[in-house]
Amino acid sequence: MNITNNSLHEIACGIDFGTSNTTVAIANSLDTSISMVPVEDHHVTIPSTIFFQSENSNTLFGRQALNAYVGREEGRFMRSFKRVLGTSLMKEGTTISGRQIQFEDIIGPFVKHVKNKAELLADKDISAVVAGRPVHFIDGNEKADQVAESQLKSIFSAAGFKDIRFQYEPIAAAFAHELALGDNERLAVVMDIGGGTSDFTIMRLSGRYIEKTNRQDDILANAGVRIGGNDFDRALSLACFMPLLGMGSLWGAKGLDFPLTPFFDLAELSKIQCMYTRKYKRDLNALISQSTNKTLTQRLQFIVEEELGHSLMACVEDSKINLSSSEQTLADLSFIETGLHSECSRRQFEDSLYGNVLSIIETINACVLQAGINAEAIGLVILTGGGTAMPIIQSLTRQLFPQAEIADGNRLSSVGFGLACDARRYYFN
Ligand SMILES: Nc1ncnc2c1ncn2[C@@H]1O[C@H](COP(=O)(O)OP(=O)(O)OP(=O)(O)O)[C@@H](O)[C@H]1O
Ligand SMILES: [Mg+2]
Repeated sequence: MNITNNSLHEIACGIDFGTSNTTVAIANSLDTSISMVPVEDHHVTIPSTIFFQSENSNTLFGRQALNAYVGREEGRFMRSFKRVLGTSLMKEGTTISGRQIQFEDIIGPFVKHVKNKAELLADKDISAVVAGRPVHFIDGNEKADQVAESQLKSIFSAAGFKDIRFQYEPIAAAFAHELALGDNERLAVVMDIGGGTSDFTIMRLSGRYIEKTNRQDDILANAGVRIGGNDFDRALSLACFMPLLGMGSLWGAKGLDFPLTPFFDLAELSKIQCMYTRKYKRDLNALISQSTNKTLTQRLQFIVEEELGHSLMACVEDSKINLSSSEQTLADLSFIETGLHSECSRRQFEDSLYGNVLSIIETINACVLQAGINAEAIGLVILTGGGTAMPIIQSLTRQLFPQAEIADGNRLSSVGFGLACDARRYYFN
């Protein structure tokens, strides 16, 4: 391998800061190896979650944060904070224990936490990183995309990185898979369906190209859309869970529909926290006082009063994941009411995804068009990201690329690994 050891950096890393999960891999210039970092105990993935403990002002990360929240500790739980980059919320910030806090001060400690884990494994400070980014943080808004990237760059810089480069997440996944390819050239499409975005790259790959320093000519097209597992969870929640809390029931003396806003808020991860203000709770109680089916709507009231929105979303997500391997699933909602269950079928779930799947198909078709090829020319499909385990995505893949071989190993870690491959190529050459 034509990798010399005259670089400024002995160690560089790749960080895939994901909406749902984060991974880190390190590249060592001395032996050119790439290693996944155990970012939480022995796990090479850490959920992108934070819990601010009220009692002692400690900050917990990943599974520890989830456990503190599920264990009903006093504090504030946050997830999916990547989705805030490039949006107005980044400026507005949020309130934690009565204190106004900026999202830089939420994402920053998380990035620093995983950087520390990488340094622990390397036994060295690490100042060079290739960070993953979606093709689009925000749909159809190039300016907001640039803003999101520069916000992330400032956060990485504040965490102590001096050399920071970005790479599209699906391109990184392509690099990771390329290591296992033979010397023949393959025209590949990478489909990366994560928690927040779906990203696609069409690229020429070959085991022979691993040493190539400039891959620009091999990349035919990139496309992305802000749809991911969070949106699939919302669709499932609205289809199978919210009716149990009164969505679709009647309201007021004139028999109008109960307003939909609280159900949509409860089904959207980024909105849940906004439901816990005193004003929101007061307004909701006023609405519920005029509800005609209080058996159902009092469940909604209970969830908001007891701040159990994230627990409900965790049940929804579990149901979604179960539906990747089963036709039917039953969620235990006894934390809301003794004996309460939600039953969902794969059919119901897939019907609820209609609009999302259509947007994904349009984005893939745009990517193929931009590459100037026919879909039949694709010989390899690389599936990465948790969402590609869904049967509807797998059958869509076979329909769109019937001739192609499908590779789907290391769904949750290939982007982080590939970012470190890119870091090795860039920093050590
Ligand atoms: N077996 C499964 N079936 C369906 N969905 C799954 C499965 N396993 C994981 N997921 C979903 O995949 C998503 C997480 O995937 P992943 O870790 O690739 O996202 P991410 O990289 O954090 O997000 P992004 O790349 O969009 O920022 C979650 O929404 C999770 O519920
Ligand atoms: Mg991802």
